[in-house]
Amino acid sequence: MTDHQSGITVRAPAKINLHLGVGARREDGFHPLVTVYQAVGLCDDVRVERSPGWTLGVTVPDWIDPDAVPVTGDNIVDRAAGLLAAHHGIEARAAVSVTKAIPVAGGMAGGSADAAAALVALDRLWDVHTSDDDLLRIAAELGSDVPFALLGGTALGTGRGELVEPVVDSSTWWWVAVPSREGLSTPAVYRRHDELNPDAPEEPESAATLLLALATGNPGILAGALHNDLEAAAVDLRPDLADLLALGEDSGALRGLVSGSGPTCVFLTAGADEARAVAGELVGAGHDVVLVANGPVAGAHVVTYA
Ligand code: C5P
Repeated sequence: MTDHQSGITVRAPAKINLHLGVGARREDGFHPLVTVYQAVGLCDDVRVERSPGWTLGVTVPDWIDPDAVPVTGDNIVDRAAGLLAAHHGIEARAAVSVTKAIPVAGGMAGGSADAAAALVALDRLWDVHTSDDDLLRIAAELGSDVPFALLGGTALGTGRGELVEPVVDSSTWWWVAVPSREGLSTPAVYRRHDELNPDAPEEPESAATLLLALATGNPGILAGALHNDLEAAAVDLRPDLADLLALGEDSGALRGLVSGSGPTCVFLTAGADEARAVAGELVGAGHDVVLVANGPVAGAHVVTYA
């Protein structure tokens, strides 16, 4: 029962693509993907409260430019609420506040996390008991990464990334993430990828090597298997990322990788102490925002009912 509740907070994680194989552009404009997602402990919180109307507020930490966040009416959370309400034939009424900690337009699926968290939170607030299948279908309509943000953990993604199945991953992997002040547009990175790869195969590169590496539990082996087909396009649009990747690896990371379509760069390290040491080096080299996170962590989940 939810009648006594004044509000619900749902937390949803950022993602890293451990493997991102991209095939030739489909007729619908999307690209077929074979990807391995990992949810990492950088999370946005979405709080919903009862309200006679619809309001949305967003709070950002000082390192995120508030102007980079899509405004109310044009935010993926508005769309999530609209689709969920329409599915149940009700009005979208709530006061929603999003507290961001995931880089915006950074290649870590921050908007997708907000959408997934909003779906879970509003489902509870409105007491509409959406089935898991319907929630995943609505999530896929909102964006290719949104179903994964519901699932969390480590998962294989196919289709355009929206078809997700969990992958056994019993290790804890330690990452350092360095966001950029300026985001990158995902469609622009895919377009550049198409220009750079006019003969891209229809079938994306398989994740078999990555999955075998993951199963070893050995970060040195996983580092060697990390793969991102969008990295060259992201670095082409943002050549400074090449220097950052090299700097992280020179600072003791096992491997640097552009996260998804970028521009956030992530660095796999041997463990928690090594992650903190690499982060310290990067801060020392002048990168003022350096985040340490481990994964896998849970997908969108309720954290408070008060
Ligand atoms: O699905 P989502 O809204 O996250 O996609 C944003 C954009 O990224 C799409 O409009 C498309 O340009 C590009 N994209 C793609 N192929 C995918 C996923 C995204 O081309 N599999």
